[in-house]
This record gives sequence, structure tokens and C-alpha cells, in this order.
Amino acid sequence: MPKTNTATRRSTSKTSQAAAKTSKTGRSAKTSKASQSSKASSKPRANTPVQDSKLREFFLDELKDIYWAEQKLVKTLPKLQKAASSEELKTAFESHLEETKTHVQRLEQAFKILGEKAVAKKCDAMQGITEEGSSVIEDTDEGTATRDVALVMAGQKAEHYEIATYGGLIQIATTLGEDDLAELLKETLEEEKNADQKLTEIAEGGINYQASEESEED
Ligand SMILES: [Fe+2]
Ligand SMILES: [Fe+2]
Repeated sequence: MPKTNTATRRSTSKTSQAAAKTSKTGRSAKTSKASQSSKASSKPRANTPVQDSKLREFFLDELKDIYWAEQKLVKTLPKLQKAASSEELKTAFESHLEETKTHVQRLEQAFKILGEKAVAKKCDAMQGITEEGSSVIEDTDEGTATRDVALVMAGQKAEHYEIATYGGLIQIATTLGEDDLAELLKETLEEEKNADQKLTEIAEGGINYQASEESEED
């Protein structure tokens, strides 16, 4: 079974790390290792996460948070697309909307892997980021490159939040021995990074410069 292999692999790697530490630090490290071994006999092994650990509960909570955030983005990206003038920017928002719908589905699959019901929990951070997106639309003039620059920044703030969240979730999933789940979330993380990169290219490819030529009276 993949889980057993993972556990074995971790156990081996932990043993090697402990051995390396002993050889570097000498006698005191050996004493410390001995005391760790006596503790280990009365507790579950550190590389076998308990099913109801606080970390698993936290992980589940974070999944609910990003599930809400992704659903919010499914509703927000069309607004950003509609407000944009650059065809390239419109296309970028449109194609990331399709990817975002897939992110929602992947999270539903993640809940399924954990044997949990897919539940969304309001993400205050994404609520704030999307509100800021709406206000930049109000604060900038329709048809201007300046608005496009503002939309790129709004989009990138959302992407960076997602990148931070998925990066952390992947690390925790790996720690919990949920390797399939980690692989699933890695697919989404790659798409978030690509979306962020695409927005950078659009900004640097022309709209920032065009916006710099727009006067306040335009
Ligand atoms: Fe996403
Ligand atoms: Fe995204």
C-alpha cells in the first residue's frame, strides 16, 4: 500500500537524520536519542499521524476556507473580465475562470479522499481581496489602461493568497501521509503560479507603459 511505503520511507529517513546528528554531536546526542526512544515506546510513532490529530482538524478547516475562496473567485473573475479593456487580459481572466472551476472540483475530491463532507467556510481574506477588486473598478475609468493595471494587481493579490494557501496545504498533506491529496493540490498550485506569471507578463508587456501615458484628465 502507498501509505505503508511512505511511512517506511519516512522512518528510514528519520533514522538516517538521527544517525547523522549522533555522529556530529557525539555523546550528548546519544543520550538524547536514548531518552527519545524510551518516550516513543509509550506514544504512537511520530511518523504515523493519528486520525483525529489537531493538525488534521486544522488542515480540514483550511480546506473549507480555500473552498469558499475558490467559489468566490468563480463569481468574481467574470466581473474582472468584463471590466478589462485589453483583449489579452480578458482572455487571461476567462481562462483562469475555467481553471478555477476545476480548483473547486479538486477540493471536492480532496474532501472525498479524507472521507469528509465538502463544506465552505467564509474566508475573510478572500472577501477583502475581492472587495478591493470591486473598488478599483469603481475608482478607475472605463476603457483605460490604468484600470487594466489595477485589475492585474487585484488578480495577483488573489493568486498570491491562493499560492500561499496551497503551498501550506501541500506541506501539511505530506506530513499527514496524504500523498495523493498533496499531488492533487500540486496541480492547482501550478495553475495558480502560471496565472500569476501570465498577469505579470501582461503588465510588463504593455499596459503598465500605456497607463503611464494616460493623463489625469483623460
Ligand atoms: Fe484557484
Ligand atoms: Fe487562482
